[in-house]
Amino acid sequence: MTTRELQDRIIRLKKENDVCILAHAYQSQDIWEVADYIGDSYGLSVQAAKAPQKTILMCGVRFMAETCKILSPEKRVLLANPLAGCPMAMQISHDQALEMKQANPGLPLVAYINTTASLKTVCDVVVTSSSAVRIIEKMPEKEMLFVPDCNLGGWIQDQLPDKKLHLMKGGCPTHMRMNAHDVEKMKALHPNAKVLVHPECLKEVVALVDFVGSTTGIMKYAQESDAEEFIIGTEASIVQHLQFSCPDKRFYVLSKECVCHNMKMTTLVDVLHAVLGTGGEEIVLPEETIRDARKCIDRMIELGG
Ligand code: 13P
Ligand code: SF4
Repeated sequence: MTTRELQDRIIRLKKENDVCILAHAYQSQDIWEVADYIGDSYGLSVQAAKAPQKTILMCGVRFMAETCKILSPEKRVLLANPLAGCPMAMQISHDQALEMKQANPGLPLVAYINTTASLKTVCDVVVTSSSAVRIIEKMPEKEMLFVPDCNLGGWIQDQLPDKKLHLMKGGCPTHMRMNAHDVEKMKALHPNAKVLVHPECLKEVVALVDFVGSTTGIMKYAQESDAEEFIIGTEASIVQHLQFSCPDKRFYVLSKECVCHNMKMTTLVDVLHAVLGTGGEEIVLPEETIRDARKCIDRMIELGG
């Protein structure tokens, strides 16, 4: 069977079985082509709530599927590859977050969306990379706890000097593999290229670049820019997607080390099995987890617009 035939079969089956396929921006092109919606964490979470289908299939990592379940508890939510998780989401547990809150009475706990459903039950607001600055700026509190990504947290702090964020030592193992030396090396090779990176990158990287944004923010910037060359500091698949959508421009990876093996786990055959009912994992969360975690996600949507 060719890839095209496999894709046609998935498209037919998803309609017959009333499945909405959501694909994170880091998924491969063959999965993008069968998806109903492609986006960053924020876009996907909003789309999950709006989708009319009874089943949502998440091609991404576990916390994204959990977020869909929290927002649409009446729907069946499937994670296409049950082994795809985000290592950063495991850096702080529910109990550690609770301890942090108890040690800092009165300070709200703001969590990056890359966290478990159970942690979200004890946090006050969730943010994504594309909504974080907007949300924290709107919060009435001046001081807050921010978990787990200290690079994203530091980048927010630099843009909102009137706020005080207390950070922990967490971060994305994939984005933290890139350093200032990579930026200098790639700029020397491509002096006319714009450098676009994700806010999960180290501060020394962010300090040297032209644009910092979420995965869809980076893609939008590159697609709309008059520049002809771009060095991309986020998961390497974004370079391939951009090169595919803008063949007249040139895209380079900031570092070949920036590969998220968890995001790479899902294959088109996993998607086929999930829509057939012979694969994927149904996300099941206790009712109280859904109820309590929902509050901070609703707050994100309310403040994030
Ligand atoms: P986005 O919110 O930009 O999609 O990022 C999610 C993620 O996992 C980045 O590593
Ligand atoms: Fe998690 Fe980083 Fe992979 Fe994103 S790129 S899913 S933050 S490990």
